[in-house]
Amino acid sequence: MSEIKAAKGTRDIFPPEIQKWQFLENAIHDYYKKFLYQEIRTPIFEHSELFSRGIGSETEVVQKEMYTFSDKSDRSLTLRPENTASVVRAAIENNLFETVAPLRFYYIGPMFRYDKPQKGRYRQFHQFGIEVFADDSPQVDAEVIFAAVDFLNKLRIADIRLELNSVGCPRCRPLYLEVLRKAARAEGGRLCADFRRKIEGNPLRIFDCKLPECAETTRDFPLLDGHLCAECRDHFAAVRETLSWMNVPFQLNPRLVRGLDYYTKTAFEVTSGQLGAQNALLGGGRYNNLIKELGGPDMAGIGFAAGMERIILHLENPALPKIKNLFVAYGEQKWLAHAIQLAEVLRAEGYPVYLDFQGKNLKKQFKKADKIAAAFTLILAEDEIASKSVSIKNMASQEQKKIPLKDLNERLKKNY
Ligand code: HAM
Repeated sequence: MSEIKAAKGTRDIFPPEIQKWQFLENAIHDYYKKFLYQEIRTPIFEHSELFSRGIGSETEVVQKEMYTFSDKSDRSLTLRPENTASVVRAAIENNLFETVAPLRFYYIGPMFRYDKPQKGRYRQFHQFGIEVFADDSPQVDAEVIFAAVDFLNKLRIADIRLELNSVGCPRCRPLYLEVLRKAARAEGGRLCADFRRKIEGNPLRIFDCKLPECAETTRDFPLLDGHLCAECRDHFAAVRETLSWMNVPFQLNPRLVRGLDYYTKTAFEVTSGQLGAQNALLGGGRYNNLIKELGGPDMAGIGFAAGMERIILHLENPALPKIKNLFVAYGEQKWLAHAIQLAEVLRAEGYPVYLDFQGKNLKKQFKKADKIAAAFTLILAEDEIASKSVSIKNMASQEQKKIPLKDLNERLKKNY
């Protein structure tokens, strides 16, 4: 029969790489709790409309990358391509605005996009992210950015670059888009076909094109920074000032537009010099209209999400505390019940214990003990059972001692 392989763009995660994942997940839980973020877990699939309305029907994510399917009741459902829209939906539906304080959430989990797979880009990938609601102050923007960059620094991820922009608000952006459309229409013939189509819809995307001809054509296009309203300008200046108090270095990039439509004012991305083409480690920004657009109160929001596979590519396997595994060996099948009970007692004391059920002789069990890198093998045989004792074999030195069972815990603690 032919072998069944994992679906394109998905991957299995197993030892030793899994150690990095557990390390990263623990680090996320520890770090973000310091800012009073609380974890939120939302479903893997949602009504498709959440994403088309939340992320924007004109975006690449919604138009080309969603895993959308009909369930048996003919509802259109979508595997979440990101989590901001879901967190907002969950907050509205469960009225978290009234019941949770502060309104700060973090999440960790798989996302799904029908992307072209390559190193650092998958169809099932993992993000962790944070979202803050009900705070429109520029200082919180800076704090969110700090909590993104500082976390990467704490993981010792070198060669990172923070890019920052303001994408304006519904007051100033439409006026700017008209100016941009005018410029783009005049040069339309020199833009690629894909981006010619975007001129009337969302011309900001023109700046996303990676083709050198498009980049060259748009080089002198008017940029948003010269068209921000006074409120967006002041907000952005205060974000930059606060970041400088926090000693967070950044580069202004007036062409940074992000791929999702919900952003207003601050937008940012952190890239890595070590990642090649898929170099965005994380991205985020403010989304002051999303909560209202999805049926909630008129409330501000800001957050970011990071690609965990891309962070994992930067991590060394963590130096784990040396765990001393125990192996319980039994001389004959008839001592199996004693061995099972001893393993149970030791696990309850907190020791990792392996017991081999294949009923092989002691020699074979010792071999297995070596294979699982046991530090000590505890042997139960005729003698030990009769005298309520156990023999401990130090697998490194091969030294073996018989001790009373009642002293075992004490002795292991000393050796451990
Ligand atoms: P995003 O920029 O679409 O933002 O994704 C955030 C990060 O997810 C990217 O910087 C990248 O590291 C990772 N990522 C995206 N697509 C893939 C992929 N196909 N394979 C591997 N990694 C990928 C968002 O998702 C927003 N929800 C962020 C946000 C939160 N904005 C405000 N709050």
